Amino acid sequence: MITIDRATCIGCGKCVGDCFTDDIELVEGKAQSKGVLCLECGHCLAICPTNSVTLVNFSNADIVKVKEEDRLDPDQLLRWMKSRRTIRKFRDEPVLAEDLQKILAMGIHSPKGGNVQNVSYVVIQDNLHHARNLAIDSLYNISDLSEELKKEPNMIRYAKMWKRMYDENKLPDAPDRLFFGAPCVILLISPSSINACIAAAHMETMVYSLGLGMLYSGFTARAVNYSREFKEFLGIKESDTVQASLVIGHPAVRYERSAPKNLPVIIRR
Ligand SMILES: Cc1cc2nc3c(=O)[nH]c(=O)nc-3n(C[C@H](O)[C@H](O)[C@H](O)COP(=O)(O)O)c2cc1C
Repeated sequence: MITIDRATCIGCGKCVGDCFTDDIELVEGKAQSKGVLCLECGHCLAICPTNSVTLVNFSNADIVKVKEEDRLDPDQLLRWMKSRRTIRKFRDEPVLAEDLQKILAMGIHSPKGGNVQNVSYVVIQDNLHHARNLAIDSLYNISDLSEELKKEPNMIRYAKMWKRMYDENKLPDAPDRLFFGAPCVILLISPSSINACIAAAHMETMVYSLGLGMLYSGFTARAVNYSREFKEFLGIKESDTVQASLVIGHPAVRYERSAPKNLPVIIRR
């Protein structure tokens, strides 16, 4: 729901023109919400020259003024995308609280279909050892693959890795093939895979811009989704789905060059 301050509205009609659902009209020279199809996308608030619009159900705490110079440099951005690598070796150094806030803010501000705020985050820092054990047990429990899992690419190879991780985990100095020594894991929980994955990708951009590194851990996401015990430990509902899992820390490895990718099929009509 939105409210529009009639005292400050100048009736410019910018919000009317930008409303995707056509849910704002001018009444006696002032903008007014029809309150029928509003998505609460916030465009009316963002475009209003007199800041007359309020989104009642949203926090207004971190609204920022838009500046042209905030645009990212396209060449630098592409160079970054080519040079970022999945990190599987981390230094024993914590992620700073202020850096974590910035990473989470990227997820919060990333676009969601219909502006539905349906991605939530679990940050694991203090209990990583226990989380890793729960994950390894869960993956072991599914490593005798169901017919459905067998159809997924690479699954036979993964199942062998999960069995090896389980056996290794009994050793006193087992190698960490799940979190690779990282000090922080963020799980993105949502009924929408696309909303969560868009959020995850934007969070990744922030991770690297902070000089940190990460890996998307499909293993961890799968381990949670198949384990009631793991979900209980995390304090999430059994019906919750982890859509993405980010393993974050200070890289202990430096790459010299980008890695090759195959050209995709691009259809032009
Ligand atoms: C959705 C997704 C899930 C992944 N899951 C894992 C994982 O569980 N363990 C792991 O070591 N790497 C994982 N990776 C990392 C990929 O293996 C890696 O991105 C790929 O080998 C390409 O390397 P690059 O990211 O350095 O270009 C995952 C990547 C993505 C995008």
